[in-house]
Parts: sequence; structure tokens; C-alpha cells
Amino acid sequence: MENIINNIPVTKCEKSKISDVDFNNLAFGSVFSDHMLVCDYKNGAWETPTIVPYQPITLDPSAKIFHYGQSIFEGMKAYKDTNEDVWLFRPMDNCKRLNISAKRLAIPELPEAYFMEGLKALLKLDSNWIPTNSGGSLYIRPFIFASGNGFHASPANAYKFIIATAPSGAYFSGKVKVAIEEKYSRSANGGVGYAKAGGNYAGQFYPTQLAIQKGYNQVIWTDDNTHEYIEEAGAMNIFVRINDTLMTAPTSDRILDGITRKSIIEIAKAEGINVEVKKISVNEVVEAAKNGSLKEMFGSGTAAVVSPIAAFGYKGTDYDLPELENSYASLLKKRITDIQYNRTDDPFGWRV
Ligand code: COI
Repeated sequence: MENIINNIPVTKCEKSKISDVDFNNLAFGSVFSDHMLVCDYKNGAWETPTIVPYQPITLDPSAKIFHYGQSIFEGMKAYKDTNEDVWLFRPMDNCKRLNISAKRLAIPELPEAYFMEGLKALLKLDSNWIPTNSGGSLYIRPFIFASGNGFHASPANAYKFIIATAPSGAYFSGKVKVAIEEKYSRSANGGVGYAKAGGNYAGQFYPTQLAIQKGYNQVIWTDDNTHEYIEEAGAMNIFVRINDTLMTAPTSDRILDGITRKSIIEIAKAEGINVEVKKISVNEVVEAAKNGSLKEMFGSGTAAVVSPIAAFGYKGTDYDLPELENSYASLLKKRITDIQYNRTDDPFGWRV
């Protein structure tokens, strides 16, 4: 150990990889910064976190993550303003949600100080990895998985909490075409849909592949019971604008409590937009598309920010959405990114 940041022991990498990185051509989450934070849970307690060079980890083949999928994660971003000051957006909300997910997956909850102090120490060390080009940010991936061994189907006795970071550009390039799902489900009542569990995403890949084969980018998930109500869009929450009303589905056992989602709701209300958090039926959306009152649909998420939807498919028919000059999506994306990048005041107190 060479150093201590915020009381966290640090082993620095011998040579930074940063000069190999083309910051103007960054695919999402594919290049990783020099260091990562690692914290082990053993013998009933979380140990002191450490920062080490970004590197592979070794696990026993019987580690329970491989067999029973005890794994949760978060998605966050660090932003640099024009003075090169570094900002996080509602980081405590990620920390709290990680522990909500942990509880549901029978993973021991992580002390908040380990998360926040560990993250700040890691960002101090790798702050030169935070992009300064327009729309760039450092995507932060905190995650916990069962590193303890054994084929017995029960919670592991050892876990790893890791924070890895990846300088990233946009998650989607251009507008998104989505298929409203008629058969498969992402989550069910009493299930783990509200948790950011790795398995929630694995379960989406096959139906999403089927949709991609038909020319769509993402699936809009509907309720598992009737498939009559829209709930989420791929790795995002979903918003629908009919006439001037902006709607999104209420969070539930099945729907992730997205931090971007809840921020967009608050910003939209502050902008005087009529916002309704309510069950949105597929019929209502299809009828609105037919009679011209469907103005916009967009996804929201940390990675995707606000991603406009260009068209949706349902029961073999594609419905195009109009190109709007003053869309809610562009207004809300500007408002939230202005706060995130410290380009405006932050009346909500979200910037850290
Ligand atoms: C995020 O928006 O951070 C997410 O978690 C989506 C991710 C699956 C790319």
C-alpha cells in the first residue's frame, strides 16, 4: 500500500493506461480507468475497503455468484464542469438503493460510509479519467456479488463489493425503436424487479434479441399478468406524452425506482408540465398514436439519460412518433444535464 485517501489504503498502478484512450470515441462502458475499489465481506463483517489497480479477480468455480446469481449493482456517473470540478448526482440515492437490492437478494447490507468515502477516494485518484468533452462522463459501476463457495443453494458467506469506472459517451446513438412485449415478462409481483439484480437484466437478453432480429433496439416491458400495461423500457424507465400530459408508470415490486425517473418527474413538475404517475395501458398508447395525440415517448436512466423513442411496434404494426421542435424530452434532458454538469443552479439540492 502506498497511500491513503479518505482513510482508504491505496495501491497505485505502475503505469496509467490513460494515454491509450481516445476520449472522443468512447463506446459505453468498454474502457476502464486505472483503479477500482474492492471491499470484502468475510466472517460476518465488511472489511476495510482498499483501492487497487483495475485487474481481473480470481474466484473458485463453486462461487455462488456463478450458480445462484446473487449479484446486484448500481449505475452512476461523475461529471466534470468547465472549471474541472467533479460532481455526482444524488449519490446517496444509489447507496440506499444498493442496500434495498442487497436486502432482497439476502446480501449483507454495506455501510453507507464505505460506499460514499470509497467512491470519493476512487474518483480523487482517477479524476483525470472523467471526460471533459460534451456529453462525456465517467460511468460508475458499484456492484456486490457472492464470492463465497459451495453448491448448497443458500446465501454465500462471503461477498465482494467493487466499484469500477468507465469513461463513456452516449449509451444510445440516435433515436430508439422499441417493441411492446406481448409474451415475455421482466418481473412479477413479489419478485425482484424493483432490485437492481444482475438476473433482471440476464432475463431480458433473449426477448430483446428476438426484438432486435425484427429491427427494434429495445423491448417495452408490460405487466406479467395481462401484458396490457407498459412498465419499463429495456434498461430504462419509460415516459409517455399524450397531448401535453407526461405519464409514467408508478414504481412497484416490478418496476425499478429509477433516480433519473424520479428526477425527471420533479423537474417536469417544476417546469409546469402536467405529470401523471399512473398505470398506462397499451391500448391508450396505441389509440393515441392512431388519433395523433401521442406526442412523445422516451426512456430515462443513468446510462441513457433521456432517450427519445422514434417508433414502437405492437401486434405486427409499427407506429412512428412525430418529430417535435420543442419536445419535453429535449427540455428535460437539458434541464437535468445542466444540473449534473453544474451549468445551472441546483434548486433541488441533488449535486454533490
Ligand atoms: C444505468 O442506467 O445505469 C443502468 O443501470 C443501465 C445499465 C444496465 C446499462
